[in-house]
Amino acid sequence: MSQRRDHWSSNAGLVLAATGSAIGLGNLWKFPFITWENNGGAFVLVYLICIAAVGLPIMMAELLIGRRSQKSAVGALKEAVASKWPGGRRLGGLVGFWGVLAGFILLSYYTVIAGWSLFYFFKTVGWTFGGYPAGMSAGDLFGAQVSNAGLQLALSLGFSVGTIAVVYFGVNKGIERIARLFLPILFGILLLMLFSALSMSGAGEALAHVFRPNFAELEREAVLEALGHSFFTLSLGMGAMITYGSYISRKLSVVKASGAIVALDTLIALIATVIMFSVIFSVAGMREQVSGSTVGMLFISLPELFYSEVPFGVVLGPLFYVLVALAALTSTISLLEVVSAYLIDQRGIARNKATIGAGAAIFVFTIFAALSFTGEGILSTMEIFKDKVGWFSTADHFVSNWMLPTGGFFVTLAAGWFMTREATRTELMDGSEPRWFHYGAWRFFIRWVAPVAVAAIIIAVIVGVDFS
Ligand code: TRP
Repeated sequence: MSQRRDHWSSNAGLVLAATGSAIGLGNLWKFPFITWENNGGAFVLVYLICIAAVGLPIMMAELLIGRRSQKSAVGALKEAVASKWPGGRRLGGLVGFWGVLAGFILLSYYTVIAGWSLFYFFKTVGWTFGGYPAGMSAGDLFGAQVSNAGLQLALSLGFSVGTIAVVYFGVNKGIERIARLFLPILFGILLLMLFSALSMSGAGEALAHVFRPNFAELEREAVLEALGHSFFTLSLGMGAMITYGSYISRKLSVVKASGAIVALDTLIALIATVIMFSVIFSVAGMREQVSGSTVGMLFISLPELFYSEVPFGVVLGPLFYVLVALAALTSTISLLEVVSAYLIDQRGIARNKATIGAGAAIFVFTIFAALSFTGEGILSTMEIFKDKVGWFSTADHFVSNWMLPTGGFFVTLAAGWFMTREATRTELMDGSEPRWFHYGAWRFFIRWVAPVAVAAIIIAVIVGVDFS
């Protein structure tokens, strides 16, 4: 273990890798859907406030905890807690491990949806060249796809192998290189889609729906849902950003990077929402159809509309699923890196073995998730939490509702209460911090605002509110 630790080669490398982690299915799939369910405008505004008041301070906290210790989640949290409370090392380590476990579980089912993007990519390429089959029901196609066990296993295996292959090559040659290559492509495709969507008849209504707040429509639970989602979308609460932070060298600014990551993630979520809503509002009967299901928009409504309604849809269709796949891949690599980095840093296992071992172990659970939609067998019928049927929903419920908020709560305590003022100050005010940043304000948010807000989520979950 005497090797030098890999570091991001530049600020851009760090920002692209971490933004790649943050931008994922949460932005393209979850955010548009919850915005739809919560009637737009006011919800979006609340979300932006949550991102700024809770997400951004915790992003800085995670990156600084990682950078200070130069260790991944477990080692970093041990050191953070021990700075004022030497006896608390064990607790810090346990919380880090809780994060590693969250990464393990999240990756096991995230891969399944990521695999769907491969299926739709191949389908849309076929339709682009062969024409959309007349009379085919997109809903039936989706149903047949998810309930086909062999297909599901093949798709998730393909995606898992891709993820392992990137992480295998390490921080610079794997993760950073892929992020540098794929994120610009992702932005490019999204912009093309935005131009196309804005030329549709429903674009004006879509923009109004997203950006014009109507507080009469806002329910109390929506505030907590926005808060919960800000954790998920920024990859917080489970040590992913601590791990990426541990690859930051002394030369790069945590504050600047956090600002860029959070801003880009938010921008992409908003753009994705405007695109989806423009399509929905342009097509008669679409509103009713969308309300029904979470996966509906991305994998049932859109595929068909590319070939009937969306300008340049025959080109944008396949490109869109490339976008989903790339967004998912830059997230799955960061999830696998959390688990691998734990094995490398804490267990002294070599990267190649750690990556393949962790990837294979996680894939066992991916099999469970992939078989959750077959409609038969315990994997698709079990119900541990109320109304969460199947392994997939159970895992998603457990991670989004319980693991990320509790992990995030502890990160606020570690950075705000256990680390010394001097330590966090040195990490954040390193001479390259941007002018908008105010250390005292950060400290106030991380000590008071963020923990109280996160505690509210945890209490709501305990009394039975459901965010997944
Ligand atoms: N941020 C990812 C998304 O929006 C999901 C996610 C949550 C994640 N926690 C993570 C990704 C940790 C990587 C690492 O889709």
